[in-house]
Amino acid sequence: MRHLGNTLKHGALAMTLIASAVHAMAADGAAGAAKGDPDARARATVAAMTLDEKIQTVFGYFSTDFKGTAKPKEGVPFTAGFIPGVERLGIPHQQLTDAGTGVASQPNPSPRQRTALPAGIATAASWNPALSYAGGAMIGKEARLSGHNVMLAGGINLLREPRNGRNFEYAGEDPLLSGVIGGEQIRGIQSNHVVATVKHFAYNDQETGRFKVNVKIGDAAGRMSDLLAFQIAIERGNPGSVMCAYNLVNGAYACENDYLLNKVLKRDWGYKGYVMSDWGAVHSTIPAALSGLDQQSGWPFDQSPYFNGALKEAVENGHVPQARLDDMVQRILRALYANGAMEHPVRVEPEKIDFAASALVSQQVAEEGIVLLKNRDGLLPLSDTHRTIAIIGGHADVGVLSGGGSSQVYPIGGSPVPNEGPKVFPGPIVYLPSSPMQALAKRLKAKIVYHDGKDAAAAARLAASSDLALVFATQWTAESIDQPDLSLPNGQDAVIAAVAAANKRTVVVLETGSPVTMPWLDDVGAVVQAWYPGSRGGEAIARVLAGEVDASGRLPATFPRSVDQLPRPALDGAGLPEGTRFATDYDIEGAAVGYKWFDKKGHKPLFAFGHGLSYTSFKYTGLAAAAKDGAIDVSFSVTNTGKRAGKAVPQVYVSKTGAGWEAPKRLGGWDKLALQAGESRTSRVAIDPRTLAVFDSASGKWKIAAGEYTVILAEAADAPVTTVKVRLPAREFAAGGR
Ligand code: BGC
Repeated sequence: MRHLGNTLKHGALAMTLIASAVHAMAADGAAGAAKGDPDARARATVAAMTLDEKIQTVFGYFSTDFKGTAKPKEGVPFTAGFIPGVERLGIPHQQLTDAGTGVASQPNPSPRQRTALPAGIATAASWNPALSYAGGAMIGKEARLSGHNVMLAGGINLLREPRNGRNFEYAGEDPLLSGVIGGEQIRGIQSNHVVATVKHFAYNDQETGRFKVNVKIGDAAGRMSDLLAFQIAIERGNPGSVMCAYNLVNGAYACENDYLLNKVLKRDWGYKGYVMSDWGAVHSTIPAALSGLDQQSGWPFDQSPYFNGALKEAVENGHVPQARLDDMVQRILRALYANGAMEHPVRVEPEKIDFAASALVSQQVAEEGIVLLKNRDGLLPLSDTHRTIAIIGGHADVGVLSGGGSSQVYPIGGSPVPNEGPKVFPGPIVYLPSSPMQALAKRLKAKIVYHDGKDAAAAARLAASSDLALVFATQWTAESIDQPDLSLPNGQDAVIAAVAAANKRTVVVLETGSPVTMPWLDDVGAVVQAWYPGSRGGEAIARVLAGEVDASGRLPATFPRSVDQLPRPALDGAGLPEGTRFATDYDIEGAAVGYKWFDKKGHKPLFAFGHGLSYTSFKYTGLAAAAKDGAIDVSFSVTNTGKRAGKAVPQVYVSKTGAGWEAPKRLGGWDKLALQAGESRTSRVAIDPRTLAVFDSASGKWKIAAGEYTVILAEAADAPVTTVKVRLPAREFAAGGR
């Protein structure tokens, strides 16, 4: 994987700007790193704590009035959580904020306004780890200046279910891509002395029945899919905490799951941080404590304050050993020490937030995360040959959409589209005031006319009388609700079809949190996936449409043709009364998530994982692969063969027949390179050894079989360019190794 410095060396102006921002943040982080061994410091502090102080440290409050309980008197109000510190020992308050796109806020009484990154799935679509780091560094800095030292971010549940309402918060369907992107975001956040929390551990891959669904999945399948994403994110990002999920896994709640928390996370991966519960995910005192939960969050979300008085009593009467409580506290304090939280106390200083600098980072992520899905006859980038442009729908005259729920960041200036969507959680629907239309108007000579898209016939009439039509289609997705199917909601497919029938130069811009189907695909000229593009989304969309930057995003998830292609055509639990327990069988696909399932079944997707067009073209030559340290090193040359600068995303898949793999091929690594017209560069990609291995549950080890492996250099999961073979000797390594 290319590291920040390498990527930047060859980058254009945008990348240089990121570089200075990132280096400034990183230098700050390095200079301020905690002195001394965090384990030893935590041990010494634990030894000095009273039982009450320890209990106080493992029990968290929701920082908002809720269920008749007033928010804590201290701490940042109307945010995710608060745990009082112990002043006499220098333990600071733990001040928790959501989430992965920035400093979130409760909607009432008046939400804090901060910078929003594009959705997590958009960051993943950039395939650019350096940008994920920069985004993390930006939101971590805003968190710190908002008074927070813990950020509940690093959401990497795998996109197993395209209808999942929280896919926008995560990083797609592939464990390597998710783990790397998530790990870099975590590193970026923590560069601000703010503890990051990777979540939701594990298998919280649908929202339908999220408190009651029992996910069934075998050990090996999990270690090669969802758990691998967490493993990679944790080893790369070293987050101070892990949030256990709402759902059950193989019969036990994720927050009292000895297998997940004690065996996989703490024993096999050697994780030294702490496990905090999701808000309302705890169901017991003794089983939860003994199964590895270290901190109960968000009281009064749970039915009982399990880790308060009840835990104290359980320790006093020996049901929970004193050593277990000490271990909980040790893990929490260690995370705070390791991240310099004691040396760098947080204060609420919003006036110090440089919103212009933050917005620039957000815009750069958005620009690289936008995916050009279709571009018939080079309809894009837009040119001044179009004298009149109709812009239709999506509130594109005033802003861009964001995803809903606890991760909601409220934009500076407020939503330009008030009163849409649910009045209560996970609503309201929030738009960010960055208008694609205004940003386009600044760049194009064309006369632009807006239509809200509510009346298909009227929109089509406008399109017919315009040189080109740009339709903005939206799909609001949110925590706690899944999508009923893969269609765009509110009759938008019909609007697009009518507009496309009226004008063959129709461009569709999608602002969705997940894959959607496109019944009108053959009839439109171009399709651009912009996801939820963040605080400067309008500018980013305009810059990509106008060709000021290349379209360089690639899909981090397969776009199916229909739900019939999915492992579960019907969503388990849909339609069941609230509170009914039910099971979902992830062993149907096991580790064959997303493109792996499509490959295995021979399904042809609408758009494949890794797909995305550029405004230029690339040629790949000289693919070579060699066995190295028990894995594979790959190299090849990439040439920009077009007439303009652009960014290539060469993907390296690996394949082995007869080795008991879950699917024909796996993503083993990738690169992202900025190339001027005519420029060539060599890429080197080190294949992650776990993508060459099978996890053997009996021995608890990864095993790489001896024999011949095929290395596939590709532009997408369905677009191989060239292959080479390499022989590997047999090798095995520990569950937590690589
Ligand atoms: C979500 C978490 C979030 C927490 C605190 C829960 O509903 O699942 O992702 O961090 O609330 O707001």
